Amino acid sequence: MPAEEGKRITIRKPDDLHLHVRSGEIMRLVVPHTARQFARAVIMPNLVPPVRTLDEAVSYRKEILQCLDSSENFTPLMTLYLTGETKAEDIKHAKESGAVLGIKLYPSGATTNSQFGVSSIKDMKEVFAAMEKYEMPLMVHGEVVDPDVDVFDREKVFIERYFKWIVQSFPGLRVVLEHVTSEEGVSFVKSSSSNVAASITPHHMILTRNDLFSGGIRPHHYCLPVVKTEKDRKAIINAALSGDSHFFSGTDSAPHPASHKENSCGKAGIYTAWHALPLYAEVFDSGDSLENLEKFTSINGARFYRLPLNEGTITIEKSRQTVPAYFSYAEDKIIPLRAGGEISWQVSE
Ligand code: DOR
Ligand code: ZN
Repeated sequence: MPAEEGKRITIRKPDDLHLHVRSGEIMRLVVPHTARQFARAVIMPNLVPPVRTLDEAVSYRKEILQCLDSSENFTPLMTLYLTGETKAEDIKHAKESGAVLGIKLYPSGATTNSQFGVSSIKDMKEVFAAMEKYEMPLMVHGEVVDPDVDVFDREKVFIERYFKWIVQSFPGLRVVLEHVTSEEGVSFVKSSSSNVAASITPHHMILTRNDLFSGGIRPHHYCLPVVKTEKDRKAIINAALSGDSHFFSGTDSAPHPASHKENSCGKAGIYTAWHALPLYAEVFDSGDSLENLEKFTSINGARFYRLPLNEGTITIEKSRQTVPAYFSYAEDKIIPLRAGGEISWQVSE
């Protein structure tokens, strides 16, 4: 047994600041996985149809809570899906309700269920101004959809064409570059004010584009923005492990039925909710930075969103476990990252 096996750390209960839980059977399967590790999660609104209104968010929140026993302490933090029809007034109502944490911008066509998203970002000026005024954060899927842009450059080009414009035009708006994947993204966020932040997924800290093609095409390593080079992966790891307050945990765990992933046109999304905290711990441990894990998972995100820090703690230990090969539900199964493989950390019971 390696000397460090059995090492334990206790941290303040963490937050997952970017999560997909879907609906129906899949939701009932995945919500308990997250609730076992995280006190709160920011729930993405890209259902079909999307969560566009306050009423829809309130009823979606109720459905999520029905997936848990009353004894489980878990808070879903709701977001609304921005469309070309969203008005400044909707932002004001959402803020006054206290039921919405932020607004998610999907460039139309960028990713799963983004067809209802925004096709002309700079036309949303009035809505962004209202968000700045009412202190409503904007969460951004930062990729251009221009077919002339190489798929690996979509984030970098989005930052140049749109993200910088948003940040500079609305300096008081809190903006998140969701699931940052590139060195350019990391460096822009790092050099920005405290109103700009980025969430970081476990899979973008673990995989590179080589993992998409190791021995064949690997549909369970496909997500958007697509995983990038080793240089990009290192930049993301350094940002997270440094404890820098611009960066925080957002798993982007995105369950899809196996039959939709293992398909001639496979869906984008990687499932990590079952083992997200152990995956993060493994990366921080490998970089000898476990002392900054709590900042990344439990403090930086809460401060950015002006939420109280979670009460209570969770203990994780360095102890090998096997990741299940799949999780079955009524119609199909969900295949997690590293299915059937080992992970060197686990949550202590
Ligand atoms: O890989 C992804 N999956 N990226 C996204 O932006 C959306 C997500 C999903 O909803 O499946
Ligand atoms: Zn997402």
